[in-house]
Amino acid sequence: MEFIDLKTQYAALQGSINTRMQRVLDHGQYIMGPEVAELEAALAQRTGARHCITVSSGTEALLISLMALGLQSGDEVITTPFTFAATAEVIVLLGGRPVFVDVEPDTGLIDAARIEAAITPRTRAIMPVSLYGQCADMDAIHAIAARHGHLPVIEDAAQSLGAQYRGRESGNLSTFGCTSFFPSKPLGCYGDGGAIFTSDDALAQACREIRVHGQSKRYTHTRVGVGGRMDTLQCAIVLAKLERFDWEVQQRLALGARYNQLCDAAGIARMVQREDRTSVFAQYTVRVANRAQVQDRLKAAGIPTAVHYPVPLNRQPAYLELCSTPTPVADQLAAEVMSLPMSADLPPAQQDAVVQALQAALA
Ligand SMILES: Cc1ncc(COP(=O)(O)O)c(C=O)c1O
Repeated sequence: MEFIDLKTQYAALQGSINTRMQRVLDHGQYIMGPEVAELEAALAQRTGARHCITVSSGTEALLISLMALGLQSGDEVITTPFTFAATAEVIVLLGGRPVFVDVEPDTGLIDAARIEAAITPRTRAIMPVSLYGQCADMDAIHAIAARHGHLPVIEDAAQSLGAQYRGRESGNLSTFGCTSFFPSKPLGCYGDGGAIFTSDDALAQACREIRVHGQSKRYTHTRVGVGGRMDTLQCAIVLAKLERFDWEVQQRLALGARYNQLCDAAGIARMVQREDRTSVFAQYTVRVANRAQVQDRLKAAGIPTAVHYPVPLNRQPAYLELCSTPTPVADQLAAEVMSLPMSADLPPAQQDAVVQALQAALA
């Protein structure tokens, strides 16, 4: 069994993916070819954002967004410690300081009720993460941001493209939405890629310039930038994958709901999804004591698992000195969470087998 099954997806889309890749090889515009603008238009339309700017990875999307906001040395950005390192890394790379706010115990999402107490005169942005494919309480976060001088909000939507919050698309909920096309993401390419969404014209222009070394036109470097373009070939692959993405999102919703039923019936503790939003289940995550032992038993039964994430960022060596505020809820979750095989093509019979093996491993 695969943890994430990309082979079945490729088999279903092989014709389109190969045709689109061949087209790029034929026209030869490997950098900023026509597929780049085509993908940006398709994704902007899909999310409802006015602008989509493709970039070389989800990490670069976050970095470029913070650069566009003009993050300076000593500035603070409020975020969650229960995430992938990229979320906080980009803040530190720009000389900023991540301020880690603890998470909700049942969802693992940043606890909006704790954000206001973390705001200081140095706060420049709030960066919630749409963990496992589910958005945080974005309306509550925006209300806090509005009360504090309209702080920009950056949604780290690396795991959540296709999810909705109160009927609105993840990626288009905030000043910026930043997603990743890492192969295992709900919408992935076959390498690195990412995208920034915004409906602010000036910020979009800044991002477009930063992506190409700060150029407003060729060899006019208006600002300091990065080499952050997404390859034409990777854009072509995402365009092909968009053909069945709506179906895949529906599959993920159905499989997530089915996993919930199976886990609840088996008495297995799991992460919770809120009623006002849909998760795309980038991960399907349960909570277990004796995790290492359970993982070993599942591995012996041929079932792969993964841990997202075993150590909160404020406990990681690189971040300890920068921000060691205790976040006990994140600590607890980090000790217990375990993700099960999940992808749009997961057969229900395999899901049954996973939950049965997990129940046996827990016994
Ligand atoms: C929450 C989160 N943020 C950022 C990233 C970074 O994305 P990428 O791997 O495309 O740089 C990831 C992906 O691994 C992620 O899961």
